[in-house]
Amino acid sequence: MSHEMDASTVQEAYSRWVLVYDWIFGPAFTRARRRAIEHLRIEPGDKVIEVGVGTGLSLPLLPQSCTFVGADFSRAMLDRAAARAAGANGSAMLIEGDGGRLPFADDTFDAALAPYVVSAAPDPIAILHEMERVCRPGGRLVILNHFSTSRRGVAGVTRALTRTTSRLLGFHAEFPLEPLFERAGLVVEHCEKVPPLHMWRIVCCTAGQRSDSP
Ligand SMILES: C[S@@+](CC[C@H](N)C(=O)[O-])C[C@H]1O[C@@H](n2cnc3c(N)ncnc32)[C@H](O)[C@@H]1O
Repeated sequence: MSHEMDASTVQEAYSRWVLVYDWIFGPAFTRARRRAIEHLRIEPGDKVIEVGVGTGLSLPLLPQSCTFVGADFSRAMLDRAAARAAGANGSAMLIEGDGGRLPFADDTFDAALAPYVVSAAPDPIAILHEMERVCRPGGRLVILNHFSTSRRGVAGVTRALTRTTSRLLGFHAEFPLEPLFERAGLVVEHCEKVPPLHMWRIVCCTAGQRSDSP
């Protein structure tokens, strides 16, 4: 998991992506986003955080009964999210900042969501650590992302692409699942492939259930 991306590379990439983001990552990804939200098992009154909220495409899919916080370090993406936050959920709040250093106390949330973020983050382990820290023990952690395939032909192509995508587009094309969660110390409880093309995976963990706990 090499990183050619720092925060300014990613922010710059998303100030370009924002122009076409909803068009590319909108309707074709709604089924997967909806499924990821189902896995959050949101109860009325729950507090939910999305790390890397982007333009807020999840917002209209969330139940009105939850309190929602969306964090992102791209001003351009958050500006797009603002209209959705105002329209979709009266209690939605957006904050600008690094998802690897969230300004919330431990155990603040009941559930944390990160769709299409870990491969776009300069420090994905920090994002996973923070998602777990800010969730109460037993809280749901749901990650939706493309993870690298072990199929030889495809793996070779994504390896070749990864340097370019990291620098220009702000995400890693090659991104293996197991080492990420192992290094974050999180136990993967559930993993399922989702559309489009079943190239994306929803990974579910529980806050407080760590692979490195005694
Ligand atoms: C591919 S977009 C996903 C947006 C949204 N989650 C969705 O489902 O459409 C990735 C987002 O993650 C944000 N991001 C990446 N690393 C971040 C970090 N460390 N802290 C906050 N936001 C981050 C980017 O700015 C971008 O808005």
